[in-house]
Amino acid sequence: LLLTAGITQAQPFPSRPITLVAAGAAGGPTDTITRILADALGRALPQPVVVESIGGSLVGPQRAAQARPDGYTLLVNNIGFAASATLYRKLPYDVLESFAPLGLVSDAAMTFVARPGFPAADLGGYIAALREGGDRLNLASAGLGSASHLCGVLLQQAAGAKATTVVFRGTGPAIAELMAGRLDLLCDQATNTVPYIRDNRVTAYAVTSTARLAELPQVPTTAEAGSPALVMTTWHAMYAPAGTPEEVQATLSAALRAAMKDEALRRRFSELATEPATEERASIAFHRRFLAEEVARWRPIIQAAGAFAD
Ligand code: MLT
Repeated sequence: LLLTAGITQAQPFPSRPITLVAAGAAGGPTDTITRILADALGRALPQPVVVESIGGSLVGPQRAAQARPDGYTLLVNNIGFAASATLYRKLPYDVLESFAPLGLVSDAAMTFVARPGFPAADLGGYIAALREGGDRLNLASAGLGSASHLCGVLLQQAAGAKATTVVFRGTGPAIAELMAGRLDLLCDQATNTVPYIRDNRVTAYAVTSTARLAELPQVPTTAEAGSPALVMTTWHAMYAPAGTPEEVQATLSAALRAAMKDEALRRRFSELATEPATEERASIAFHRRFLAEEVARWRPIIQAAGAFAD
């Protein structure tokens, strides 16, 4: 009799491993953040959390939007997700309607980097080289609506010139090409670039934060380097598919807040100049409001730039 009662009762959540879809290719910042988060979530929850990294701006979110809304398939995505709501005329999902925001994960500055030996001494020289070189220079982008694409738009506006954009499935593959000297310029999250800058495998010209990063004390801020308009912070956040039961969302969001206090996560984030979300930012209410604000903030910028994709 007891057994039968057990079978008809709903399983407590989570009763099997959770998949966290990272919207970025392996080896890039979204993949890195998602792996560190998955480990910490696995310690906060009674089940392991496995990562599935999917490159290309739309594929990962689409996979999560179409997943069964049971809390077992989640998404981690960055600032580009908010911009994509305006950038694309047609999306296979609705940024604000197809997902249940669970909370923010992190914030990171962007860094302007170039291949080793790039002929510029400082950020002024980097921008001048783009102005003079134009489309003879290659600039990496992880696809329309990625963080690197948005930062590249800011850079090209500052230079008043357009480079040849090379699209990668994420900035993990892009930075490999940069180190190999086959790519000239990249604006990417500190999360991805800090280890390579420290090893002198790429050259850094500036960070887009208002203060220098403790992990890169030698790299000036864009304001110090004479371009105060080049300010950008990239955030990551975690989502469930819309329609996920509220108590499951609450369990996952609480686990996210617990993960933000995890010592191993905080140490790894700090090594990568990446800020863990505060208790407030890692909440459902904050993330819902923030996402709507970010979609509204990017809309006029993208409309003014006339940058749309089908
Ligand atoms: C990645 O993980 O590849 C990046 O987050 C892509 C980007 O948005 O630039």
